[in-house]
Amino acid sequence: MGVHFITGAGSGIGAAVAGLLAERGEDLWLLARDEERAEVLRSRFPGCRTLAADLAEPAALAAELEKQGLPERLDSLLHVAGVLEPGTVAEFDVGAWQAMLAVNFLAPAELTRLLLPALRAAPGRVVFVNSGAGLHAPPRLGGYAASKFALRALAESLRAEEFRNGVRVTTVFPGEVDTPMQVRLHGALGLPYEPEICLTVDSVATALAGVLDFPPDGTLSELTIRPGC
Ligand SMILES: NC(=O)c1ccc[n+]([C@@H]2O[C@H](COP(=O)([O-])OP(=O)(O)OC[C@H]3O[C@@H](n4cnc5c(N)ncnc54)[C@H](OP(=O)(O)O)[C@@H]3O)[C@@H](O)[C@H]2O)c1
Repeated sequence: MGVHFITGAGSGIGAAVAGLLAERGEDLWLLARDEERAEVLRSRFPGCRTLAADLAEPAALAAELEKQGLPERLDSLLHVAGVLEPGTVAEFDVGAWQAMLAVNFLAPAELTRLLLPALRAAPGRVVFVNSGAGLHAPPRLGGYAASKFALRALAESLRAEEFRNGVRVTTVFPGEVDTPMQVRLHGALGLPYEPEICLTVDSVATALAGVLDFPPDGTLSELTIRPGC
């Protein structure tokens, strides 16, 4: 069994993949935004280790996490946490761009840096949950798409840099997934929500587990998952 560090395990895709790995008896380190959310994770996933840190404050992550203690060896780091605020370029001020870049890009970059010694020790895999918006930027999602484009660049550089250390890097690009984020987005855009045409969180979790289970002679470097056909 492996040791896995997951962000975003409190909801949606992250909760589903944490549940799948917990059922297999794997060891979980779960990052929550604060101690209250960490308590919820400990009761939902008995036996897991939790760390509390706000990904919206990436510059504070090193001090926050080092005082709580980091794992010495990791089979995987799954970056699942994310935020999405819709808005046009005309509407977005600097703070709006910064808010999404902080959680979706800067925090994963900093967390990866902090956990690289543990990933090299295994060696383990880094999995970035990106988005279709990380490949094509639609109108009204420029801030979100920019953060996900940046996340893809981070993954590409990391893959090339860490190859010789045995650390494997995967980016997963899901289409629409039935989660609270997707419900909020449809509400904000004033669009009808149709969960039946979305991917389920269980399908995305199955794909993520497949990435982790892939034989060590190769890497699923980029994986696009579309609802339906
Ligand atoms: N849903 C989709 O259609 C879709 C499609 C493609 C890609 N994605 C990506 O998939 C990932 C998961 O999305 P989801 O749909 O499962 O969203 P979700 O249900 O809204 O869950 C997001 C998770 O991120 C955590 N999070 C957000 N801000 C945080 C912060 N400042 N500090 C710590 N944790 C924070 C949340 O913590 P709390 O539990 O404390 O709220 C929550 O657990 C995201 O990266 C998203 O961009 C989603």
